[in-house]
Amino acid sequence: MPSSGIPYAVRAVRKHDFRNLQELMSAKGDSRQKKFHVVKMGLQDLRVVLSSCEEYSVRPDLAQVIKESKYGVLMNSGVDTPFRVFQAVHLEDYKSFIDLGCGLGDISFLVSLFGLRSTGIDHDPEVTAISITFKDKLAQIVPDVKEVRFLFGDQAHQNLDFSQYDVFYHFNFRDSKDIFKKRFAEQALPGQFLF
Ligand SMILES: C[S@@+](CC[C@H](N)C(=O)[O-])C[C@H]1O[C@@H](n2cnc3c(N)ncnc32)[C@H](O)[C@@H]1O
Repeated sequence: MPSSGIPYAVRAVRKHDFRNLQELMSAKGDSRQKKFHVVKMGLQDLRVVLSSCEEYSVRPDLAQVIKESKYGVLMNSGVDTPFRVFQAVHLEDYKSFIDLGCGLGDISFLVSLFGLRSTGIDHDPEVTAISITFKDKLAQIVPDVKEVRFLFGDQAHQNLDFSQYDVFYHFNFRDSKDIFKKRFAEQALPGQFLF
């Protein structure tokens, strides 16, 4: 953490211009598929930026840039399969989405392309600050992501109002998955969807 109080990784993302995304976005058409490609490339660029920061390491064996800390392991589960699944289930028919343990927000960004109100929660404060900084940059290129909301918090202690969301995406944490599953079983409403 530098003397400014803003972590180096957050400042690195803020400084990066993501110019190549602008070029990709200016290609013809306005399809969700094109925006998906731009978001995917943006998330890859983000990881290139992070790979030069302390705490983040490149794992070629996993094709990942990871961070290991007291908050757990930051990795991503990839965006291609979730995007195809979201198309198959017609995610656009739903209204609001919550991404528990969102990491850098890959899934939350994808969901916004389907028009849902998308919220991501993570308990790593630096990762949350990076997601918010990156979102502000990406929104200048893909306006759909502008309304994505990133919250800092522990999903086990977060007093989630289940009635506010109709789709839940839950990263299977070792420590708190049982708490979430119990709450979901008790509070879920008819028609709610859990990934
Ligand atoms: C492996 S990453 C998954 C990122 C993303 N969900 C994905 O699938 O691409 C796990 C993330 O969950 C977060 N996490 C772990 N336990 C958590 C908890 N109890 N509450 C909130 N976030 C948590 C970690 O900080 C980390 O960013």
